[in-house]
Amino acid sequence: MRVAVVGGGTSGLAIQHAVEQRGAECVVMSRSTGFDVRDAQASDRLTEFDVVIEAVGGTFLRRRPAEEFFTTSTRTIARATESSGTRHVLLSIVNCDLPEVRGYGYFAAKAEQERVARQVSPRLSIVRSTQWFEFAGQNQQRMKVGPVSIVPAMQIQPVALDAVAETIAEEALSDRPHDLVEVAGPETMTLQELTRATCPPSPRPVEVTIPTTYGKAFTNGALLPPPTTPIVGPVLSDWLASRKLQ
Ligand SMILES: NC(=O)c1ccc[n+]([C@@H]2O[C@H](COP(=O)([O-])OP(=O)(O)OC[C@H]3O[C@@H](n4cnc5c(N)ncnc54)[C@H](OP(=O)(O)O)[C@@H]3O)[C@@H](O)[C@H]2O)c1
Repeated sequence: MRVAVVGGGTSGLAIQHAVEQRGAECVVMSRSTGFDVRDAQASDRLTEFDVVIEAVGGTFLRRRPAEEFFTTSTRTIARATESSGTRHVLLSIVNCDLPEVRGYGYFAAKAEQERVARQVSPRLSIVRSTQWFEFAGQNQQRMKVGPVSIVPAMQIQPVALDAVAETIAEEALSDRPHDLVEVAGPETMTLQELTRATCPPSPRPVEVTIPTTYGKAFTNGALLPPPTTPIVGPVLSDWLASRKLQ
């Protein structure tokens, strides 16, 4: 089995590790390895794989460029699967398509990416997770303003990225793939609590309630998974303890 992970950021190496642990060959492809999903020839380079896992991402301030980027990436991968037997696994976010959070451009773009993927990709599995434990660190870097970092007020049920990567690898290598798989972590907390527990004290995290409909929805639990969502991975304290041992 030959697997490509397109993206290769925070999630890329974790997914590669989980796939290789299961005995499959796995290549991570992104601009830093000379692969750009926006290139005209990008699809041709994916047809040699049995499975392509789509895990691209970026920092976007507005909905339009985010939507443009995510849907271009998805169309590139879908084109590769049209002309070969390649399967497509798309990494996405639990509840990104809820009406009350669609004012948030990034989620609107992820929801549009899922919609386009369902339309154009013939052998598609979507794996959605809640926010990762690692998300607090990503947010701290992305939202840094001088000595502080803005932490949107939100209730989340975060999950260890390694556990999400296991789910993705299982789905990618399964001979009975699902259309949609959702996973979440075991505990509910605020992003500010997660940030305090997992990130360095500087830049200082400052919790801010976003004064919009989606900001209110974030604080009211719109990002919490449905109760039937499978729980994967350790509780936060065990995850922190295991990292200290490494
Ligand atoms: N963070 C979370 O908690 C969370 C939860 C659930 C789902 N997700 C989803 O998981 C996906 C991956 O997230 P992540 O945090 O791992 O992403 P990330 O750390 O932002 O990394 C994304 C990678 O995409 C690559 N990339 C960007 N533009 C590209 C292009 N034009 N062509 C090829 N590669 C490109 C970049 O590598 P180069 O610079 O080398 O190109 C970058 O390393 C995202 O779609 C995100 O929405 C995230």
